[in-house]
Amino acid sequence: MIKQRLPVGVNLIEAPKHYLQQSLKDAVANGFQKTPKSIPALFFYDAAGSQLFEQICKLPEYYPTRTEHKILTDYAEDIISTIPGEVELVELGSGSSTKTRVLFDAILTNQTHLHYIPTDISSDFLLESSIALKNEYDLLSITAIAAEHNDALRLLPKGASQSRLFLFLGSNIGNFEPEAAVNFIGQIRRRMCTEDYLLIGFDLVKDRQLLFDAYNDDAGVTAEFNKNLLLRVNRELDGDFNLDLFDHYAPFIEESARIEMRLISRCAQGVYVEDLGQRFDFEQGEYIHTENSYKYTIEGFGSLCEAAGLMMCKHYLDARSWFAVGLFRKTVGG
Ligand code: AVI
Repeated sequence: MIKQRLPVGVNLIEAPKHYLQQSLKDAVANGFQKTPKSIPALFFYDAAGSQLFEQICKLPEYYPTRTEHKILTDYAEDIISTIPGEVELVELGSGSSTKTRVLFDAILTNQTHLHYIPTDISSDFLLESSIALKNEYDLLSITAIAAEHNDALRLLPKGASQSRLFLFLGSNIGNFEPEAAVNFIGQIRRRMCTEDYLLIGFDLVKDRQLLFDAYNDDAGVTAEFNKNLLLRVNRELDGDFNLDLFDHYAPFIEESARIEMRLISRCAQGVYVEDLGQRFDFEQGEYIHTENSYKYTIEGFGSLCEAAGLMMCKHYLDARSWFAVGLFRKTVGG
């Protein structure tokens, strides 16, 4: 329905039905057999979860969003001037494209038109923000791709004569296991020509308390975001989780340099999930693992990207070195 109202200059590509990924039902059935029990972070982002994540980004304790935004604001011109000729932008996991606006402004001082290709898992959200962007920036033409990251890369239209700047911002790479991060960056690389660049935002290892506070905020928004997974199981799989009997806790695990999002059972209890026809027992203190958020050093992240065949040409930091944005291109001969 929304598609009929697309303004001139906005196109939508949707993943075919057979691209549909794992269902919540399969994810819970598999994840609850493991020790610790787990639900993949991918399932955070239904409509309610996406809204809660937007709220997280504005929390005083959650520094990544505003720090990355400041870095992009300060260095947009430098980033864009590194890329020779005209630029086309591809953004993986674009959300509301808030931070991307500073790059639009820098690009549109050098060229009269910009082709922007945002990709996001939620097609409604993607279309809404694409239409808003088009109203704001007349010089944009937008090809929105509604798909998960891997599928979006497969659906990417062939590039024109311009260089492409791929964006993967917001420390989203931190939610991949390091090996999966190398694979994913390798997949982006396969879509890059020699004159293309990739800009990645990644979070840095820092003071433990700062890290802890960012994922255990006082207002309890991250707790609500985490518990939204239990609400989804209740609503979508007819489960009987009592949310008051689980606590949100997100420690920093030194050995793996990652924050782990957990939901800890306050007592010994059984939870029945009707659609799976199964009861799951929890001991007191047992937890469901819901997300990893990896923190890197500049060198460590540079090596990870090297393993994927990319070299870091430049990196940009905020004044406190809390967050980094790296600009990558293909290694010679790649
Ligand atoms: C989306 N991602 C980069 C966030 C992060 O910081 O790892 C998800 C998040 N989880 C809890 N707070 C934010």
